[in-house]
Amino acid sequence: MTNALIIGANSAIAHAIAEQILEQPGNHALLRVSRSSLPEIPQTQSGASTVSDWQSDYSEQSIEAICSNIVATGMHIDAVFICNGVLHGNFVNQGSHTDFFPEKKLEDVSPAALSHVLQSNAMLPLLWLQNLIPLFATNHPCKVVCFSARVGSINDNRLGGWYSYRASKAALNMLLKTVSVEFSRRFKKVKLIAFHPGTTDTHLSKPFQANVPAGKLFTPKFVASQLLDIVQSVDFDGQLSYLDWNNNPIEF
Ligand SMILES: NC(=O)c1ccc[n+]([C@@H]2O[C@H](COP(=O)([O-])OP(=O)(O)OC[C@H]3O[C@@H](n4cnc5c(N)ncnc54)[C@H](OP(=O)(O)O)[C@@H]3O)[C@@H](O)[C@H]2O)c1
Repeated sequence: MTNALIIGANSAIAHAIAEQILEQPGNHALLRVSRSSLPEIPQTQSGASTVSDWQSDYSEQSIEAICSNIVATGMHIDAVFICNGVLHGNFVNQGSHTDFFPEKKLEDVSPAALSHVLQSNAMLPLLWLQNLIPLFATNHPCKVVCFSARVGSINDNRLGGWYSYRASKAALNMLLKTVSVEFSRRFKKVKLIAFHPGTTDTHLSKPFQANVPAGKLFTPKFVASQLLDIVQSVDFDGQLSYLDWNNNPIEF
């Protein structure tokens, strides 16, 4: 049995994670959070698993309220998946909708877009972790996966570009590393993973799929299956693991 909290549950990879947890034998409890309403998941097992959905605008108030409700249920959560991430799209900037896209050169960097990407990709996951502290304090073993990206590796940055996205995932990694140092003292039964799914066929990667070599564009289903195996096997070692889809460590 797995009880899992999936945040950013409308991500294509998150859908696959939810489906695959429910396909495993046993009765599971899934808690899903998203900005929008979520599709039902077909239950292939006995049907005694439960799925509870929350809608959130990801404001501090909303995150706090949802986490308080989850803690109040007294449910033991075995795994948390924070799947949120933006690379392109639009956001509201001083009342008007503004498009953003990964920067090719320094002149493309806009403070408003950089701030939006940092907020969505680095600040939001940290806020969830902050508000989930009462859950971690129950001492029930919990594995926490935050979706990062290989381009967040400073060591791996040979191509340049994508200023905001790279910086946001590097910031996420540093925030998670700092949390892991603190949790190794406070909550020894929490394991943190910064996960790189590989280039996966989702809305996020759509504009960038043309140059992906054959066989290197993964399905969400494949990535979810790899990730669930990693979560299953990883140890509670008090460290942040920065891992790719193949369970290989990535240098920070
Ligand atoms: N696809 C790839 O090739 C690839 C490669 C490396 C890393 N990643 C990372 O993998 C994760 C999952 O992405 P995906 O590929 O599955 O993409 P996706 O299907 O486009 O999912 C996007 C995710 O980001 C959230 N999101 C979208 N706009 C947001 C906003 N303004 N503020 C907060 N959250 C927002 C969505 O949450 P809602 O449920 O609330 O809509 C959803 O969880 C991301 O962190 C991404 O950076 C993906």
